[in-house]
Amino acid sequence: MKLELLRGDITTLAVDAIVNAANCSLLGGGGVDGAIHRAAGPELLEACRPFGGCRTGEAVITPGFRLPCRFVIHTPGPVWHGGNRGEAELLGACYRNSLRLAAKNGCASIAFPAISTGVYRYPKREAAQIAVETVRAWDETLPERVVFCCFSAEDLAIYRQAAGE
Ligand code: APR
Repeated sequence: MKLELLRGDITTLAVDAIVNAANCSLLGGGGVDGAIHRAAGPELLEACRPFGGCRTGEAVITPGFRLPCRFVIHTPGPVWHGGNRGEAELLGACYRNSLRLAAKNGCASIAFPAISTGVYRYPKREAAQIAVETVRAWDETLPERVVFCCFSAEDLAIYRQAAGE
């Protein structure tokens, strides 16, 4: 598996799947969730409704509609409450369950935002460590290319450090 780090807007990436840092309602929101829904168009919300929501750490997949990617994988990350409510396990589950859905749907490439590190206030360094470790521990053949799409130069530097670059 090839792991790539880049700074950019995940809605522009022409990968097989992009991951949305959603909330449990799956009805859209701000941050990357808002950006993905805006770029995908209203069909994305219609495709999310039938799921009736999603539990933290779990993931669902929809088409990408007007986005350049084929699929959007929606996963609600944990809200940070200090680290004693299983946040690390739940964040790892977001990455693992997203990789599992990508593999199941034949995705060769997937891009992740920094799940939970915005509105949900997960500390960025710890979250990046979990993201890199979970992806590196993934040993199935698909996806073969994983992109961490950082929205700021600061986040990219944090991911570089977490990836040991
Ligand atoms: N492309 C890539 N990354 C982005 C983009 C974008 N277009 N927009 C924001 N980000 C980054 C943020 O800078 C942050 O590093 O995504 C990361 C996750 O931040 P949030 O989007 O705030 O997501 P999260 O912290 O998981 O909180 C989820 O926020 O938007 C609502 O509906 C969402 O309730 C949910 C909550």
